[in-house]
Amino acid sequence: MSSVPLFKLNTGAMMPAVGLGGWGGHTTEERENAWTFMLMALQSGYRLIDTAWAYHTEKATGEAIRKSGIPRDQIWVTTKLHNQHQGVFVEEYFEDSLKKLGLDYVDLLLLHWPQTAKYTPDGSDALDATGNLICYDTPIFNESWAHIEKIHASGRAKAIGVSNFSIKNLEKVFETAQIVPAVNQVEMHPYLIQQDLKDYCDAKGIVLTAYTPTGYDTVRKDPTILELAAKYGVSGGQIVLAWHVARGVAVVPKSANEQRQKDNINLPKLDAEDVKRVSALDQGRRLCNAANKEGKVWGWTYEQLGW
Ligand SMILES: NC(=O)c1ccc[n+]([C@@H]2O[C@H](COP(=O)([O-])OP(=O)(O)OC[C@H]3O[C@@H](n4cnc5c(N)ncnc54)[C@H](OP(=O)(O)O)[C@@H]3O)[C@@H](O)[C@H]2O)c1
Repeated sequence: MSSVPLFKLNTGAMMPAVGLGGWGGHTTEERENAWTFMLMALQSGYRLIDTAWAYHTEKATGEAIRKSGIPRDQIWVTTKLHNQHQGVFVEEYFEDSLKKLGLDYVDLLLLHWPQTAKYTPDGSDALDATGNLICYDTPIFNESWAHIEKIHASGRAKAIGVSNFSIKNLEKVFETAQIVPAVNQVEMHPYLIQQDLKDYCDAKGIVLTAYTPTGYDTVRKDPTILELAAKYGVSGGQIVLAWHVARGVAVVPKSANEQRQKDNINLPKLDAEDVKRVSALDQGRRLCNAANKEGKVWGWTYEQLGW
């Protein structure tokens, strides 16, 4: 077992390799109460919370940090710019994030998705007649990235990065970027190992963070994962998270359960052979953000996403 390792970003900052996922649920009550499981995690030793404007848990994140009494500079806060807030909205809504967090800087600001969704004042989804999110076909993430670079230069986001970006869309970012994203947060687990994206990000010095990192029960209860869980005397979830860390991928598992929170930051060191066995489970299969029956993910096709 080991304590939480740190990964060095291209800014020189050391980011905890395991943080707490900050998705708080669908209802206002769940989102407002999210501070309770966040505080529990901070008290258990977590030092990174992964929130987003779109989760509506930035207020809860700030509340948990203040209630914990842990100095601000010892906690890593990641937030994300909503896909409705690209282009001209970037600055205004980043300020809104800071206000909700009650902080004057974040450690990492991510551009949540490459696509731009139709703006609504409260951030709720604008859907077309078929129930698809209304998105614009022409990406404007290059313009958004330029705004994010200015926020970074102002010191209000110590590091900046992207989320859900493929090699195709990263290549497009690089056409105009002055700063290489420090992090790319994507869906990743043993059924979706994305070795090509991993190799590309490694070559560019971009640290990958896995979301849906445990792969839910689908992956946590895979027979190979359970066999390794028995070998190391831990849970399937711990095996999967240990595999990510061994691969140099950061993780943000979300648990509101005290024991599982503790398990998720107390990971075994896997033998190299076992890391390979887990990687061999790859099926190229998305479990969180898979295409709907129209072949779209949040309004874009796999082709547009470069998936
Ligand atoms: N960038 C993006 O577009 C994006 C998209 C999705 C998610 N995310 C981020 O990633 C975070 C995590 O994603 P996720 O919730 O999809 O996946 P996850 O953390 O792999 O799974 C969470 C679920 O698994 C359970 N769980 C957690 N650890 C466990 C363990 N060791 N054993 C058994 N069950 C366990 C939790 O239940 P209990 O609470 O009952 O333990 C919860 O129901 C989110 O909170 C968010 O911060 C980002």
